[in-house]
Amino acid sequence: HVHGNTLIEVAWTLAPAVVLVMIAVPTITTIWEVDRPTTDPDALVVEVVGHQWWWEFRYPEFDVVTANELHIPVGRTVDFRLTSADVIHSFWIPQLAGKRDLVPGRENNLWFSADSVGTFIGQCAEFCGLSHALMKLEVVVEDADEFDAWIGRQAVPAAAMDPEDPLAALAARGSEVLLRAGCIACHRIDGTVAQGVLGPDLSHVGSRQKIAAGILDNTPENMERWLRDPALVKPGALMPSLDLTDEDIRSLTAYLSSLR
Ligand code: CUA
Repeated sequence: HVHGNTLIEVAWTLAPAVVLVMIAVPTITTIWEVDRPTTDPDALVVEVVGHQWWWEFRYPEFDVVTANELHIPVGRTVDFRLTSADVIHSFWIPQLAGKRDLVPGRENNLWFSADSVGTFIGQCAEFCGLSHALMKLEVVVEDADEFDAWIGRQAVPAAAMDPEDPLAALAARGSEVLLRAGCIACHRIDGTVAQGVLGPDLSHVGSRQKIAAGILDNTPENMERWLRDPALVKPGALMPSLDLTDEDIRSLTAYLSSLR
């Protein structure tokens, strides 16, 4: 039994204190460093807006707006400006970067550069309501050339369907259903009268790999399923069931799939 040994007490107080300082100095320096907005003049700015329950991505430099599928060039710093349209969400692509909250009424920053091409899955990481778990996104990291080609396609209205295409008549009917059923109140389709801003921009929805914020493969069957009853796919979704007939749904699906 040791009692009142000053040397030992000083030693076991000082040794852990030194260890803590050795850990704290590089940790805190790094936290500050990654927390600063990027100073890279070549950074690509992407504005991310969280919505219940989907993601809006804006590329102000190119006047491009898209949803749920984020494209970024490999090896280039991306400067994300994060905010929310409703409640707090959290932007998280586990393989690329840490989480960062999207808070209504303020702008948060996050920046990183992806060092390999591929498709990466992201997920909202802050409980934000009924379908929080269904608020996913896809990140497509691609070569600079492919990114330029993608952004070039996004910056202009989707090409009209070839009139020879067997689905052309159906798609043309679908574009009328879109007007009649009221979709245009919430959705925007570049080059048409649809200029709504409440829901995801659908200008190029046919070119995306997934629909309904990353939870369904973008196939005609899934698009029909989504249009028939959105709440069945995504409980609480703001998109209402429009009571469309089967033919309306088929034609609307043909039209949306043609928006590439
Ligand atoms: Cu958005 Cu959880």
